[in-house]
Amino acid sequence: MKFKGEHILSVNQFDRDSIQAVFDVADQMTPYALRQKRTKVLDGAILGNLFFEPSTRTRVSFGTAFNLLGGEVRETTGMSNSALAKGESLFDTARVLSGYSDIIAMRHPDSGSVSEFAEGSRVPVINGGDGPNEHPTQALLDLYTISKEQQYHGGSIDGIHIAMIGDLKYGRTVHSLSKLLSLFNNVHFTLISPKELGMPESILETLRSAGHTVEVTEQLEGSVDADICYQTRIQEERFESQDEANKYRGKFRLNQSIYTKHFKSKTVIMHPLPRDSRADANELDNDLNMNPNLAIFRQTDNGVLVRMALFALTLGVENLVTKYDREVHWFSTKC
Ligand code: CP
Repeated sequence: MKFKGEHILSVNQFDRDSIQAVFDVADQMTPYALRQKRTKVLDGAILGNLFFEPSTRTRVSFGTAFNLLGGEVRETTGMSNSALAKGESLFDTARVLSGYSDIIAMRHPDSGSVSEFAEGSRVPVINGGDGPNEHPTQALLDLYTISKEQQYHGGSIDGIHIAMIGDLKYGRTVHSLSKLLSLFNNVHFTLISPKELGMPESILETLRSAGHTVEVTEQLEGSVDADICYQTRIQEERFESQDEANKYRGKFRLNQSIYTKHFKSKTVIMHPLPRDSRADANELDNDLNMNPNLAIFRQTDNGVLVRMALFALTLGVENLVTKYDREVHWFSTKC
């Protein structure tokens, strides 16, 4: 895939070479994210960071990534704070905001909305999540994390066994991650969810037709010989009613004793976050916080590296980053 000047709307745009290109640039971003040095390569550039649906880490990490490259960020958050609430179309919004920005990151609750917006934009648009459809940058950071965790254990992405647990119907992160994993060889998927919240048939078909092993089950039973346990949240905001979402709340909890019973001692625990820590859900218990295999905060840190890489590639500065290096003058505990 060509990056420069392109929208990033779907993981379907990626092949293994373009994934590797993102990972290579992400690796080069580590000293900047650790504040060992800084760069001004995007000095003067403006990111339009448009989040029409709640977000903590995607919104802030897009902004942080752009700032770390020396650029400025302008934001709008929430539908009710934007002129979309007055009936303005996505096309008009895109025409206007792309006049103010060099690149746009956007999240919106409707499937296909970010692509529709991109049609009106004069600058590249990056999908920060469109309803239950896709979350391509999360999938890339998840895959980057899997790659790093597998390297740490002496393996690679090819041949991994991943268990995905929870709301696989509305969880856009598992949709996008599954599609990216389908590009690798001999992946074993164990998909654990209530029948009503199963992985969409189109994605199962993609995985099976690419020759991967797919097991579908409604219960976490016996020992699961997985390298990765990818837990998800019940996406209650996508259900018709709160009562319907409540039926599934707390159905799939992971804590240290459940982990020890069902997984290998080195199974890596991932979650796109936020984890629902309310008592009646508690899907990823705090008693796992000190488990060295809990990779959730390595995922969030990696999100900055991957988003920096995507900005650098899309704006065509991936080979200029070090040319605009500056020293760091402040004391940083990150170093
Ligand atoms: N993983 C993720 O998309 O988190 P936020 O909703 O906080 O952005």
